[in-house]
Amino acid sequence: MSWIREGELTIIERFCANIIKAGPMPKHVAFIMDGNRRYAQKCHVERQQGHSQGFDKLAQTLRWCLNLGIREVTVYAFSIENFKRSKEEVDGLMDLARQKFSRLLEEQESLKKHGVCIRVLGDLPLLPLDIQELIAQAVLATKNYNNDVSESLLDKCLYTSNSPDPDLLIRTSGEVRLSDFLLWQTSHSCLVFQSVLWPEYSFWNLCEAILRFQMNYSALQKARDSYMEERRRQQMERDQAYVAKKLQQEGFASHGDTRRRRTLLQKCTAMREERIQGFLQALEHKRADFFERLCTVSA
Ligand code: IPE
Ligand code: IPE
Ligand code: MG
Repeated sequence: MSWIREGELTIIERFCANIIKAGPMPKHVAFIMDGNRRYAQKCHVERQQGHSQGFDKLAQTLRWCLNLGIREVTVYAFSIENFKRSKEEVDGLMDLARQKFSRLLEEQESLKKHGVCIRVLGDLPLLPLDIQELIAQAVLATKNYNNDVSESLLDKCLYTSNSPDPDLLIRTSGEVRLSDFLLWQTSHSCLVFQSVLWPEYSFWNLCEAILRFQMNYSALQKARDSYMEERRRQQMERDQAYVAKKLQQEGFASHGDTRRRRTLLQKCTAMREERIQGFLQALEHKRADFFERLCTVSA
């Protein structure tokens, strides 16, 4: 039996889903699933039971998202800080994660038909040494090419670079902090904090969060667009300053010779793209090597 696709929406849920879908929908939703232990305490059940129900709630929430046409979901299931909890709790959580996520991955093939793709990522406790080295090399290289370093390069260096930034981030249990989750990627997301404990999360809570996203949609879009425009403007300004310096070195007046300036500008952009691609490929290789070694060690 499928973990995430069992059951459909009720008639009333489907009716409301259709109304909500008439408005702008978030394409990518991130969840900080918080409140499992408080739920266990409230219901007088074992802590592990609270966590287990939390994982099952994730399955149910993914189904709602699928029904609402949300194709990308990122969840915070465990943080580095959570390793400080008792060994018993950490082991219990790891067992649950292994069980539930492997079930999810088994369903990957059938979900692909719905355009759903699953990636399970973990946070790394330390930056792997050779990636640190690579960054050090890149920093040295930027002595000559400091125009290469930009916010968009930083985006491309992150594990999340294959996904668009979340449009909506939801944290349950009334806590109003991000606890280190996707800090960079959510700077222009709609943040919704809800008081419900994660295992009690309902379809209606999700609808409420999406409605809040829709109410703020135009402000969010405007902020995101103007941020992207500002990035482009800054890059153009830096490139133009670089070209003006080059022209001066070649003995041209910095404002003169439009054709030469245009050629230099194109060349400068193309060369930067090439350097960045090279750097990103090297980063990708180092990362793949690191994960391969990690898997060999833990196998
Ligand atoms: C979130 O619930 C799940 C994990 C952190 C693994 P908590 O375990 O943080 O539960 P509360 O917030 O203490 O109730
Ligand atoms: C938050 O964990 C991360 C997850 C929900 C996985 P906590 O609930 O322990 O967060 P803090 O430490 O209280 O912020
Ligand atoms: Mg918590």
